[in-house]
Amino acid sequence: MLNLLREGQVYELLLVSKSNLTPVGVVRRGRRLHFRLFPGKSFRDLLESSYAAIQITNDPELLVRSALNLELNLKFESEGEYRWVSNMPGWLGEVQCSRKIWEDEIGTTEVLECEFVPKRELPGEIPLRPFSRADCIIIEMAVLFTRYLVKPGDKTRAKILELYKLYRHLGGTSETAEYILAHLTKGSQK
Ligand SMILES: Cc1cc2nc3c(=O)[nH]c(=O)nc-3n(C[C@H](O)[C@H](O)[C@H](O)COP(=O)(O)O)c2cc1C
Repeated sequence: MLNLLREGQVYELLLVSKSNLTPVGVVRRGRRLHFRLFPGKSFRDLLESSYAAIQITNDPELLVRSALNLELNLKFESEGEYRWVSNMPGWLGEVQCSRKIWEDEIGTTEVLECEFVPKRELPGEIPLRPFSRADCIIIEMAVLFTRYLVKPGDKTRAKILELYKLYRHLGGTSETAEYILAHLTKGSQK
């Protein structure tokens, strides 16, 4: 199943750690999956326990809502130190992380550079979901919004607003997009 991920391409997958679920941008190199974590719950979890699951979804709402820590309707299973979402394909494995310093336009921060070694495949079903550009756009909005939460700025805000317009133009109606918009406006009034 690892071959489903083209080597070197970034895939938005779900990382299930000790106490958290979050989307991560994952790149496969050989039989290992690489990702980078900025400070947060998953970052802290992986420092405490290296057991994790990486799972595959094609549900944009799930990727976006888990990034924003909004309510989700998911069932979890666990075994020993492992935890995963029921009936969702992916892998259980161990994560080796090293702490690095990261610098970008947001500032300087610590990051975890992580390498996930799959130990066991998780079976599951992915619902049939036709491709929609609106789904791509809401993912992009959420990525930018999580950056905006760390460092609010007019440029990021303007990009999100532009994406929101395109999202609506493409027929997107998710209430999560409205949530992003509402919190964006509040952020800018601070
Ligand atoms: C599609 C998508 C992909 C993301 N990928 C990453 C990632 O690779 N690394 C990361 O640190 N945050 C990523 N984020 C942002 C996190 O989900 C967000 O900052 C979250 O709050 C992480 O914090 P937590 O570990 O406290 O839940 C992504 C967000 C989205 C919407």
